[in-house]
Amino acid sequence: MSTHTPTAESRVPMIAPSLLSADFLRLGDEVSSIEAAGADLLHVDVMDGHFVPNLTFGPPIIAKIRERATRPLDVHLMIETPERWVERYVEAGAAWLTVHVEASVHLHRTLEQIRQAGAEPGVVLNPSTPEGTLDYVLDLCHHLLVMSVNPGFGGQRFIGGVLPKVERIAETIARRGLATLVEIDGGIGPQTIRSAWDAGASVFVAGQAVFGVPDRAARIAELRAACG
Ligand code: DX5
Ligand code: ZN
Repeated sequence: MSTHTPTAESRVPMIAPSLLSADFLRLGDEVSSIEAAGADLLHVDVMDGHFVPNLTFGPPIIAKIRERATRPLDVHLMIETPERWVERYVEAGAAWLTVHVEASVHLHRTLEQIRQAGAEPGVVLNPSTPEGTLDYVLDLCHHLLVMSVNPGFGGQRFIGGVLPKVERIAETIARRGLATLVEIDGGIGPQTIRSAWDAGASVFVAGQAVFGVPDRAARIAELRAACG
């Protein structure tokens, strides 16, 4: 898929509900429900029980999600040695594939590998990781994901201390004339989305805030409107 440069004036909020908060027993229907509610992307959290203290799903389940989904899958790998898995996740249906800078020793190579495999490459930073680690890979990234919780679980409290980092990343992208999208993940809801938008994010992962309410369409509309 292609994107255009998200200048401050042309930025459009994109809402990426996290399937981590879906009812797994009804996963196909949850995918359809969240798409009907207005999701732009489907965020898929892959955890290996090593990089993060939790375990979720792998390629076969993602392939099934892909069969039902009409929106792109935004796959967030919270796994060690992600380079060993890139092709399998792209084959399973990842349109965007994001690796943690803390987990990838040869990050530059991994990002090229993702693009070559056919997905949009992205890098994700833990709340404690400084943005300087991006300097030499920024031009390879379709998107940058800033964690606003420590990864591993849904429903955690937003860490506002990462907002200056989002601002600095957005400024660097603009200064370098890049098209990289800034995404934020963790604790995003009606009370927090505006601060992340103001800092420069335009792609918003939301788990509990969207799946945890009866009217998901109203909630997605509310999140979008909060950025207006
Ligand atoms: C956390 C995951 C998030 C999580 C967000 O490790 O990366 O995507 O599902 O959930 P909420 O929006 O509930 O904080
Ligand atoms: Zn995530």
